[in-house]
Amino acid sequence: MNRKECVRFLLQGNPLEPQKKQGVGHAPLNIALVKYWGKRNRELNLPVTSSFSISLNSHTHTTVETLPHMEEDVVVLNGMSIPRETTFYQRVKGFIDLVRPEKMAFSVTTINEMPTGAGLASSAAGFAALTRALNDLFSWQLSDSALSCLARLGSGSAARSLFPGFVLWEKGVREDGLDSVAHSLVETWPELLVAYVPISSTEKPISSTAAMQRTVDTSPLYCRWPVEVEKQLQEATSAITMKEFDRLGRVAESSALMMHGTMLTATPPILYWLPETVSVLHQAWQARKEGFQVYVTMDAGPNVKLLFLEEQKELLHRYFPKAKLLSPLWCDHALSS
Ligand code: PMV
Repeated sequence: MNRKECVRFLLQGNPLEPQKKQGVGHAPLNIALVKYWGKRNRELNLPVTSSFSISLNSHTHTTVETLPHMEEDVVVLNGMSIPRETTFYQRVKGFIDLVRPEKMAFSVTTINEMPTGAGLASSAAGFAALTRALNDLFSWQLSDSALSCLARLGSGSAARSLFPGFVLWEKGVREDGLDSVAHSLVETWPELLVAYVPISSTEKPISSTAAMQRTVDTSPLYCRWPVEVEKQLQEATSAITMKEFDRLGRVAESSALMMHGTMLTATPPILYWLPETVSVLHQAWQARKEGFQVYVTMDAGPNVKLLFLEEQKELLHRYFPKAKLLSPLWCDHALSS
């Protein structure tokens, strides 16, 4: 099954033309605590393993409109028109192509509350918000599971950005990927806080899609990855049920370091870290020795995210003066479009 066939299946019985002039959608950022790294099917963005994230109260807001007298899509990000030669434009256009009625152009206006392309998984919130906006424009009224499937075709981690709280993206076993969808866990943990240390907001040197593929194809360590992730998923969900923060922090940190370890051993090697990334890691390990239970995680970029508990919040700026707080998103209602 290719992407178009998958979309046709998901949209069965739903309108294939926009039902109004404008559709809007909002979606939160998510940070993986147990990472997604590697696809078993590149066409459908089907992952090798399940992954696990926490959604954050920082959103992408997207408006989609039809452009009756135009031939080309217009994409505007944070008030700037995006040139059609850019990867960003082409990814948005490629996603709309999956549902585009013949010869219809669209304008996509997106506002990100966080910087784009800096390892803060903004493509996840971006494709999830675009999926919700299209759902609104076409009046599909698809379930969140179906929207998760659809968003995954834009960016794998977008499957998780449809939901609040702790989110598990099940890898699924079907070849068509219809069971590779995310859902929220019932557990919440309001005392858990997330922060990030901004290190660089420049575009990454290699996309996560390309980095992940090179890792799968060439890293001799990658064969261990699925086995370790399976253990990490169990450890993370059990830590959450038992409210054992150190256990959760250790798993999240280890998942991120393992992911970067597989990249470092790819050919040619991939290293997203900058010298400041390493400094922040050392700072976190030193802070832990001194009693601040803080754990790090990183995605495909140089920025570091920190996990800690509310009761130690006042220590954050003592150890990480540049850190910015990102509260988790626990409630449902902020998400619907
Ligand atoms: O959604 P993608 O294809 O950009 O993958 C991103 C994967 C990581 O952010 C590095 C890890 C994750 O699980 O979010």
